[in-house]
Amino acid sequence: MSDLLIKNGDIVTASARYTADILCQDGSISAIGENLDAPPDTEIYDAEGKYVFPGFIDPHTHVYLPFMGTFAKDDYETATVSALCGGTTTLIDFVIPGQDEAPLSAIDTWKDQAAGKAASDFSWHMAVTRFDDEVESQLREIVASGIASFKVFLAYKGALGIDDTELFNTMKLAKELGVIVTAHCENPDMVSSLQEQLLAQGKTGPKWHEPSRPVEVEAEGTRHLCTMSELTGAHCYVVHLSCQQALQEAVEAKFRGVDVWVESLIQHLLLDKSYAERPDFEGANFVMSPPLREKHNQDVLWDGFKHGFVSTLGSDHAPFDTEQKKMGKDDFTLIPNGIPSLEDRVRMFYTHGVETGRINLHRFVYAASTAAAKIFGLFPRKGTIQLGSDADLVVYDPEHRDTISADTHHMNIDYNPFENFDVHGRCDLVTVRGNIQVREGEFVGETGIGRLLKREPTHF
Ligand code: URP
Ligand code: ZN
Ligand code: ZN
Repeated sequence: MSDLLIKNGDIVTASARYTADILCQDGSISAIGENLDAPPDTEIYDAEGKYVFPGFIDPHTHVYLPFMGTFAKDDYETATVSALCGGTTTLIDFVIPGQDEAPLSAIDTWKDQAAGKAASDFSWHMAVTRFDDEVESQLREIVASGIASFKVFLAYKGALGIDDTELFNTMKLAKELGVIVTAHCENPDMVSSLQEQLLAQGKTGPKWHEPSRPVEVEAEGTRHLCTMSELTGAHCYVVHLSCQQALQEAVEAKFRGVDVWVESLIQHLLLDKSYAERPDFEGANFVMSPPLREKHNQDVLWDGFKHGFVSTLGSDHAPFDTEQKKMGKDDFTLIPNGIPSLEDRVRMFYTHGVETGRINLHRFVYAASTAAAKIFGLFPRKGTIQLGSDADLVVYDPEHRDTISADTHHMNIDYNPFENFDVHGRCDLVTVRGNIQVREGEFVGETGIGRLLKREPTHF
């Protein structure tokens, strides 16, 4: 790796905007200023007329995911290469043990999956899919080793979901250890009953997925998590919040003093439930949980970003191809849940958020990078541009015009949910700790350089 001097960029962080040069040496930012000289053997990159953003952080991905009888399609190489092409330089994936599996055994599996493959840095949330003495002692060890956030599923009854006693114990432990609990919030019993009812009425196609998990089910799950947080004092984080009713529950809880953060996804901002109603089973490609919603929810979520009620933008990248989706051709409850969006998250957020005036540039950077770094203990190493931070940078050309397509994306999946959407901007240069990984939107770097990031409990 040679050192790098990025000249004359329009530097934008969550809180500042100015024109300057950035010198990257030995993996971190060593100088920021005007007219910086390039030391010997330093590559000079002219960023005039382009933004320079901190590397973006995706707080919610499923790179390796055994789920609903199959496996998500990407691996640590294809996922991180795709992420980088779209400007994401750090992702936080989920280690999810089977319900009979020990957490440390799942950690070993994820380590094997990632070994030597990642082109970007990454971290993990530790899913708690059962709570007993063995799990508790291993969770303590896992947190001490640098994995400082938990994940619980209030959905997926009988598979990954935990009951209220387990949830309560997990949150008490989280409070004691100072780690945040991220949660998939849908009431599992309501989902099961509604699924049964719809199937009994012969309603088997993908379009019935949303009615089986209506907004009330998500709102109830969100309230449930917040109540547990209130009882235990643990900090919590609602993943993939999709609708007005759930946001209202989270905001009301915030006003009661609950320490709750909210994440929404690019899918829920841009796609609505009509996509899952497409004929000839194409709708299956848009089946995810919580489901795509009525369109009016999108404005609520955009406003949530603008006013700070929603903090982070995730992808919930969970790619299952059209063949895998056919597992549910006669029964929508068997369609593997998930939509790929890791590569397009940032550029779609910029195009439909910043360029339309829904959010300003600083909110954009905050939601797609800085907030995740702060909430999950990566700041200021990641998520900003300042002296000493990792040299994870994105030089973004806002004038570039493109159209999203599965023919040109880098994800290992045969469709793109944003097919034919226009996109404004391209990642002209992307660096990971000063290593140039992407030029002009294409991967030119090295795989295997990505590191598993250790995070300290934040204790807030
Ligand atoms: O449908 C989804 N979201 N699939 C991935 C697993 C999860 O619930 O996040
Ligand atoms: Zn989920
Ligand atoms: Zn997820």
